[in-house]
Amino acid sequence: MIHLTINDTPVEVPEGTMVLRAAEKLGITIPTLCDHPDLTPYGGCRLCLVEVKGARGMMASCALPVTEGMTVNTESEALFKARREILEFLLFAYYDSGYQDGQKGETQFMHWVRHFGLDPVTSQSPSPRYPVNSDPNPVVWVDLNKCILCNRCIRACEEVQGRFVWGLTKRGFDSQISAGANTDMLSARCETCGACVAYCPTGALDNKPSMGAGKPDTLVRTTCAYCGVGCQFDLNIKDDRIIRVTSSPDAPVNGNHLCVKGRYGYDYVDHADRLLKPRVRRYLLDGRAKDEIRATIGGHQADQRGGWDWVETDWDTALSLTARRLDEIRSSSGPDSIGVLTSAKCTNEENFLMSKLARQVIGTNNIDHCARL
Ligand code: SF4
Ligand code: SF4
Ligand code: FES
Repeated sequence: MIHLTINDTPVEVPEGTMVLRAAEKLGITIPTLCDHPDLTPYGGCRLCLVEVKGARGMMASCALPVTEGMTVNTESEALFKARREILEFLLFAYYDSGYQDGQKGETQFMHWVRHFGLDPVTSQSPSPRYPVNSDPNPVVWVDLNKCILCNRCIRACEEVQGRFVWGLTKRGFDSQISAGANTDMLSARCETCGACVAYCPTGALDNKPSMGAGKPDTLVRTTCAYCGVGCQFDLNIKDDRIIRVTSSPDAPVNGNHLCVKGRYGYDYVDHADRLLKPRVRRYLLDGRAKDEIRATIGGHQADQRGGWDWVETDWDTALSLTARRLDEIRSSSGPDSIGVLTSAKCTNEENFLMSKLARQVIGTNNIDHCARL
């Protein structure tokens, strides 16, 4: 363990801890932009500057390992002035065209801009340097005018998703993030997971399907039903509809990360084609046999003329028909002629009951589940 003092308060942390994390342990907030606890330290933006006794100049606390006996100061007039100048410098190359999905309310960057008394409108660049929405990715909105080159998207794609899509190209004032060898994101093997969006502190990367959707009325924490991992996220609800999904660092299984289905695959909930009532083939309601329909009419014409089409019915009717047909098939062809496929969208208890139904009622081990990704 290493012992140091931050703002006159002693603290003990494991060797290798960065000064920023040691300060957090004491409840001290140091402004940051390029730092994120999930990602390797980068030390690029310099907003987290602190004063260290005996050191020449200020040092970036997010990339500064603690040392025994270190004395750190996180607040002073000089530090305030330095941090404000850094933000002024970043705003000099920042241009907000007014497009945003409203997901985070105020971005982390804008929070610090206002905190240090800067006016985001008058201090930003007078004109854009890049086209807005510059990548055809179906879910990630790219606006490099808002990029402050914090490198979080690059590290998130590498370290969280393992895809290495983003990189830094060009030099000096022309530096920019680029997908692959200056191509588009999908060509650079993007999996549209949205991790780079979740970690971007400025809105330079944003959720394309949610652009213009505004702020949610409420957030509902829920567990994803697509597979068996059990990721948690927040459904952003506005006017009783889901307008976006946001991940949260305190989700126990997945933290800030999600796959493309969890983050962007929510449109089925309100889809016009979604089945809301049970449906059965009309011939079953008529009490006729399938073979009879095929024999008298044949092929696809049966749809219109023979009762092959689907009709809505009530649950009692649908379940009675299903039970009757399963019983008939079991009697005529044996229990192993039946297979049961359950769903990750069911609860554990419902899936347990389906297993009982298959094995003990029907008498088959032909049961499987779509949660085995
Ligand atoms: S969406 Fe995911 S895979 Fe694509 S660039 Fe962003 S982090 Fe990488
Ligand atoms: S796009 Fe966002 S996360 Fe990536 S470097 Fe720019 S500001 Fe940082
Ligand atoms: S947060 Fe430490 S240098 Fe950016």
